[in-house]
Amino acid sequence: MTIGRYIAFEGAEGCGKSTHAARLAAAIDAVLTRETGGTAIGRRIREILHDTSVTNLSDRAEALLAAADRAQHIDEVVAPALAAGRHVVSDRSVYSTLAYQGYGRGLPLPEVRHINEWAVDGHWPHLVLLLDAPTEVLERRMRGRQLDRFEQEGDAFHQRVRDGFRDMARTEPERWVVVDGGQSLEQVGNAVRAAVADRLGL
Ligand code: TMP
Repeated sequence: MTIGRYIAFEGAEGCGKSTHAARLAAAIDAVLTRETGGTAIGRRIREILHDTSVTNLSDRAEALLAAADRAQHIDEVVAPALAAGRHVVSDRSVYSTLAYQGYGRGLPLPEVRHINEWAVDGHWPHLVLLLDAPTEVLERRMRGRQLDRFEQEGDAFHQRVRDGFRDMARTEPERWVVVDGGQSLEQVGNAVRAAVADRLGL
């Protein structure tokens, strides 16, 4: 039986994660999913997290809502798929909480990691693909889009998030691959396929 592998795409808004997650999932016949909002319950949690009229959500409550979305997603989607031998490709994962709520909001990283250890229940992604693109490229891609609660945050917040992703990739090079998301669609797609073949043999 195939051993299911769990692959996560991470990166800033506008980096191309969703497109490349969908392409990879089709190429390796994986279950395509996302955090937040990968389940019906998660979509309700996501509404609160993204709603721009929500102005008083505390940082800790935000982190716990993201972790609750994750616990439901792991129990309902990720763990059953892996147990059935399917590969899973997820648009964002636990590392988004470490980047956004930890590095971005400034919550203590060991505490954010601790609550998420419980939420993932042993299911950390086997491979994380960080699509890293220059700020100008991200800004150009986001132009004209309706911005959600996170996207409305200032440049300093988004810089901390991006630095956080890079920091985590540097700290755990055996789990992470950084792909230059500023390249063409085809080049990024090829780099993603090469990384998945190299690291997981898929
Ligand atoms: P996206 O699903 O369109 O990429 O947007 C998700 C937004 O939610 C993005 O701004 C990052 C944010 N987010 C967190 O702050 N923490 C999390 O744990 C996750 C999964 C997403």
